[in-house]
Amino acid sequence: MEVEELCKKYGLPEQIASVLEKSGVTTLYPPQLDAVKKGALDGKNLVLAIPTASGKTLVAEFCMVKSVLGQGGKCLYIVPLRALASEKYEEFKEKYGPLGVKVGISTGDFDVVDPRLAHYDILIATSEKVDSLLRHRAKWLADVISVVVLDEVHLIDDPGRGPTLEVLTARLRQVNPEIQTLALSATVKNAEEIAEWLGAELVKSEWRPVPLKKGVYYREKIKFDDGSKRVVKVEIKDELAALAIDTVREGGQTLVFVSTRRSTQAAATLLAKHTKRTLSPTEGEQLTAVAKTIENALGESTRTCRQLADCVRQGAAFHHAGLHHAQRRAVEDAFRRNLIKVVCATPTLAAGINLPSRRTIIRDYRRYVEPYGLQLIPVLEFHQMCGRAGRPQYDKYGEAVVIAKGRGEVEALFEEFIRAEPERITSKLAAEPALRTHVLASIAAGYVNDADGLLEFMKQTFFAYQYGTGEVARIIERVLDFLEREEMIRTQGKLLLATPFGEHVSRLYIDPMSAVILRDGIKGIAAKEPTAIGLLHLVCDTPDMGRLYLRRRDYSDLELFLTEHADEFLTPIPDQEYEPDKYEFFLADVKTARMLQAWLEETREDDIHEQFGVGAGDIRRNVSTAEWLLYAAHELAKLFKSKPALGPLRKLRERVRYGVKEELLELVQLRGVGRVRARSLFRAGYRKLADIKRGTEQELAKVPYVGVEIARSIKRQIEEDAI
Ligand SMILES: Nc1ncnc2c1ncn2[C@@H]1O[C@H](COP(=O)(O)OP(=O)(O)OP(=O)(O)O)[C@@H](O)[C@H]1O
Ligand SMILES: [Mg+2]
Repeated sequence: MEVEELCKKYGLPEQIASVLEKSGVTTLYPPQLDAVKKGALDGKNLVLAIPTASGKTLVAEFCMVKSVLGQGGKCLYIVPLRALASEKYEEFKEKYGPLGVKVGISTGDFDVVDPRLAHYDILIATSEKVDSLLRHRAKWLADVISVVVLDEVHLIDDPGRGPTLEVLTARLRQVNPEIQTLALSATVKNAEEIAEWLGAELVKSEWRPVPLKKGVYYREKIKFDDGSKRVVKVEIKDELAALAIDTVREGGQTLVFVSTRRSTQAAATLLAKHTKRTLSPTEGEQLTAVAKTIENALGESTRTCRQLADCVRQGAAFHHAGLHHAQRRAVEDAFRRNLIKVVCATPTLAAGINLPSRRTIIRDYRRYVEPYGLQLIPVLEFHQMCGRAGRPQYDKYGEAVVIAKGRGEVEALFEEFIRAEPERITSKLAAEPALRTHVLASIAAGYVNDADGLLEFMKQTFFAYQYGTGEVARIIERVLDFLEREEMIRTQGKLLLATPFGEHVSRLYIDPMSAVILRDGIKGIAAKEPTAIGLLHLVCDTPDMGRLYLRRRDYSDLELFLTEHADEFLTPIPDQEYEPDKYEFFLADVKTARMLQAWLEETREDDIHEQFGVGAGDIRRNVSTAEWLLYAAHELAKLFKSKPALGPLRKLRERVRYGVKEELLELVQLRGVGRVRARSLFRAGYRKLADIKRGTEQELAKVPYVGVEIARSIKRQIEEDAI
């Protein structure tokens, strides 16, 4: 069916046809037509479990636009990753903005309910953000949403984020049973179960718009699943390079998946030597500009920044979660503009993203998993990686190649991955931490009033669908006991009520267990003045904060530190002999706290990386979580009227945010001035805003790391603020 015809039939503005034509869409793909036939545009719930690149998003787009323009509806598009959120945001805004559809994105802070969000017709958000909004009973959200799209819904299987996705889906459907639910899934074994859970029609198909051949490479030959073969000579001594450059020479681009961050860096550095020779002079110039942005993304240039910039200058790049998000963005953009020819990535790039890689190489199909050791990656993930190749707007075909290490492996790889059926997905909601959080939220936000209501709600989850309610009931009982014991809820007859503490905890979007740890720690502050390490350790001790990994060589240093600072900790130190596991965790939390301390003592990022094994992206993720928890602790201190805690918590939070000593807090308030520039200004004698006011623009521009543009900007800010 032509898009034009579809528009006529369903009363959609005909402009849509011309808008879509610009992005190469004129006719519906067969599975899209199937979705329409099954009632997508008549408001039916739908699960689309069809191959990668088969245009699942477009079906959702039609439904959303129809609802917005036809009935003044509001739509939520829920994604698992920020990178995917921005891709969809840019795309929807460009396509539907001109039709008057207001598109918004929200992936940021958790407890701020942005009233502007209500003005958007289509809101793209991560599941955590939507969950947080629902806890504030964002009325417009729960009541007015007409269409909800769950992109990458198979991630319900993920122990970390799955429970949230599942609970918020159940919540939205509970509040508004009329809501149209569209679940977009990878091909999984039990798509029928998801469809039945959601009361949805199922669209299933093997059809893919662009042929994707999957094959195994061994000894200069790729053997594909369609029986074809391709010879790739290893003239350049390295199999990976030979495979990657083979595509680049024909004008294509390559994406390489490896299992660790370190491997992405090593592989990209190696491949850069080869991509360099394929670049035109103009490409070289453009890449130099991209490399410059990447090198300066942090304010100080670290070894990793320089290594990435070096690769990019030569037409290759690495991509992993340790990089600053601006750098990841720059790599994705330059890859899309066909400047970067080869990207080496960890599996973070495997889900949903549209990239121009004609060939995807899966070099590592095993991954280290604690405590089991090396494991084969899931088949589902393997196919998701493969699916990044051959995307319709970039290529006419795609190839996914896995490298065999021995002859015997060739057939095994076909069996284990290429011809294998993806796994069945299962709910991970039964975990107590997940239920603790969601049970409290349900009560605090007033969605349920008693144990029966709670059970009734839980019956709507995928977990109950798969395992029945008996199991949920048992865990809920334990969770309610915990919440009551810790005084987050109280009972009044049959009624379950949240206490002010419980309400705070739910709105602050922290694990109730974290709240208990913070509350008890704050009580300790009343007795003595806390130190930075004491407070940092307190937030690192909560389950909301990720823990750094302990290396063997860390022990002696950390133990010494622990002895020297024993009286500063706000939580009791576990006994090494009687509680060895807890003691280990404590040490790891101390390590995390010390990493944060190094950050706010203005240690160079290179040194933090060296000492703690974390990259710029990790530092910023930990920093933002710590900042969040310090804010939460501050709110709880207010609630419990713990005055001595307020000042230290507030100040520390500011320091953590900027990564500076206290004396720089005034300077970093200026836009464009981070920890490095502020220190440089301070050294040059500009210690306060008043000092900057006295200096001339020319003088300021001479300060190292400042320069003409920043000098102008900070002078302007000072004048505007009339300090
Ligand atoms: N009918 C169509 N005609 C031409 N191009 C289309 C059509 N439908 C979708 N596309 C294009 O196909 C590309 C892939 O679509 P989309 O990102 O929705 O894939 P997907 O099914 O979500 O894949 P994944 O499982 O990898 O997320 C997009 O660039 C989209 O513009
Ligand atoms: Mg998709």
